[in-house]
Amino acid sequence: MINIIEPRFFEEEEEAILSILRSRKITRGEWTKAFEEAFAKYLGVKHAFTVCSGTVALFIALKALGVEGQKVVVPAMSFMATIDAVYLAGGVPVVVDVDEYYTIDPNQLEDAVKKYNPKVVIPVHLYGQPADMDAIMGLSEKYGFYVLEDSAQAHGAEFKGKKVGSLGHLSAFSFYASKNVPMGEGGVIATDDDKLAKEVKKWIDFGEHPAFNVRITEFQAALGYIQLKYLDQRNKRRREIAQKYKEHINSSFVHPAEREGAYHVYHLYTLRHKERDRIIKFLKERGIDARVYYSYLLNELRNAEHLPVDRAKVFKEEVFSIPVHPYLTDEEVDFIIETLKAVEVPV
Ligand SMILES: Cc1ncc(COP(=O)(O)O)c(C=O)c1O
Repeated sequence: MINIIEPRFFEEEEEAILSILRSRKITRGEWTKAFEEAFAKYLGVKHAFTVCSGTVALFIALKALGVEGQKVVVPAMSFMATIDAVYLAGGVPVVVDVDEYYTIDPNQLEDAVKKYNPKVVIPVHLYGQPADMDAIMGLSEKYGFYVLEDSAQAHGAEFKGKKVGSLGHLSAFSFYASKNVPMGEGGVIATDDDKLAKEVKKWIDFGEHPAFNVRITEFQAALGYIQLKYLDQRNKRRREIAQKYKEHINSSFVHPAEREGAYHVYHLYTLRHKERDRIIKFLKERGIDARVYYSYLLNELRNAEHLPVDRAKVFKEEVFSIPVHPYLTDEEVDFIIETLKAVEVPV
């Protein structure tokens, strides 16, 4: 099977894990500190706090912003954690449609902001594609809401030369096994704002008020630190494969378009086709993993308040993702292309 999710580790990681075992310093040590510093530097922000998952990163960021009883706008298309974190933090989600790039539609966002006066908006850089952060930050200045970037799928993605996760007031990352920087489980809350960083810290360091232990271990931090060193190189390979797909897979498929000014990192290569289910079956029978991300809309999943989500409704029925991880060989990429060419689909 050609896997859609494929974290790989090499000698460098093996040596680091062994050295941590031998040192017996297995939590709250130098690796965690080094990873937090390296990740903040990579993004170009002052603060990066490690936590145990992306979901917890979103939850703490929302707590730091104080969303209890307040509206929080999320896009219809995302992993369920985006909306669940809002409920867990005591917020009231409002779901809006996506644009043609599968990220929050800024036009509808403005309608939602006028109608609901949200405290926070959560753009999701879905599949590795940056949301339209110019438009979103413009609205934030005009209406005065906070922007929390859900960057769980977009490590290394850029918008107009700046890293996603550094563009909003706060951002949340996931380091789950499938992500572009995998450490098994893990998350980061990043911000350039000292005041918000102080609020975030209250949820991480014990003492200020009741809080969970949300730390990661040195093992996870070491994996993250080492994987981060190779992120740009591996994202480049993802983009190379994506380019090949765009050139060679026929036009009856809708390919992921890249937003102007965006550096898409192809966490997933997501196509659209009306005969999606038949195509997935065809691919799987030939040893290629293909999956639907996601088979639900957030408003439907949690019965949340929403504006009309017409685009997302169509996309949900048509999207499917194929392998694009950086360890695919050229032969595997060619095989995926040839297999997709062989599916009998009406052009
Ligand atoms: C868009 C998005 N947000 C949030 C999360 C939650 O991250 P985690 O699984 O680390 O809790 C994920 C991934 O799983 C995700 O893809």
